[in-house]
Amino acid sequence: MQSLLGIETSCDETGVAIFRPGHGIVAELVYTQADHAAFGGVVPELASRDHVRKLPAMIREVLEQAGLRARELSGVAYTAGPGLAGALLVGASVGVGLARAASLPAIAVHHMEGHLLSPLLEARPPRFPFVALLVSGGHTMLVDVRGVGRYRLLGETLDDAAGEAFDKTARLLGLGFPGGPEVARLAEHGDPERFDFPRPMVNRPGLDFSFSGLKTHTRQLVGRTGPVDHADIAAGFERAVVDTLVIKCRRALRETRYGQLVIAGGVSANQRLRAALDTALPGQVYYPRPELCTDNGAMIAHAGWHRRHEGKTDGQIAVRPRWPLEELRAPGRSEVGGR
Ligand code: KG4
Ligand code: ZN
Repeated sequence: MQSLLGIETSCDETGVAIFRPGHGIVAELVYTQADHAAFGGVVPELASRDHVRKLPAMIREVLEQAGLRARELSGVAYTAGPGLAGALLVGASVGVGLARAASLPAIAVHHMEGHLLSPLLEARPPRFPFVALLVSGGHTMLVDVRGVGRYRLLGETLDDAAGEAFDKTARLLGLGFPGGPEVARLAEHGDPERFDFPRPMVNRPGLDFSFSGLKTHTRQLVGRTGPVDHADIAAGFERAVVDTLVIKCRRALRETRYGQLVIAGGVSANQRLRAALDTALPGQVYYPRPELCTDNGAMIAHAGWHRRHEGKTDGQIAVRPRWPLEELRAPGRSEVGGR
């Protein structure tokens, strides 16, 4: 029986899961570090330390949940990048160490490929080719996806990522971290029409994004209004981000002539984004269940299975804090056994 362990430690979520082809995710745990809220952002040193503290017990627990011993796995997949160097090193060291001890291949996974492929875990998966909108705390990208590892970047953000814009707006509004869910919650009580927000870059051709202007606009609004207006600001901001993303997604589908859009990454958990895309592109939108949108081990175990033939047994620990998605290639078979 084939089962892959997946380990995610690229930022402030410690995620561990076991994927079994034909069965899907058979065991899963995510621990979200809470200490960062007090600092209004992720503190790399704290994140690494917390991963070290949590990871070993979490791995033991998912193995127990799945009724497996480490030796019975067929590989260990871990996030090798992009992400925080120290945090990545924890997952990579533990993953490669465990693989070596149990004589298993260790598979280095690209975090954004994990997100990108996560809708394939759902009951109604998309089929290749499709357009993927990847919206997380560090990335905003539109990608032409012809298959696993066959990615062409169509557009990306020129400044802040969509999730980062949510996080910064939350801070301006005195809300907690991560900001996306907080802004969305406050926006429920707000009037998105009351304040005029720009729709950055929509009148320019192309598929790039820019969110830093929205943040500046929010800062000015917060400066000349009071706390009673914050819900309206949150709603106006969220509407502007959602509208911008919807316009670019429609354009990307038109340009590629594809009929399917996949959205993934933390911001894809946003209910108003999902609803707006479903309305604009009925029947064409695929997304992971909400708990698979934010960082988790399941997407890493699953992506690792697609790259199972690239596993290494040489015990080398290497992470890539910066790792462009376009550098990935279709899965190869060359490195099994560390040769
Ligand atoms: O994918 P993810 O968990 O981590 C990264 O790879 O960055 O994404 C985290 C980002 C954060 O910026 C967070 O504020 C945002 O996703 N986010 C949301 C929502 N849930 C998480 N943004 C908007 N609406 C949400 N419901
Ligand atoms: Zn992520």
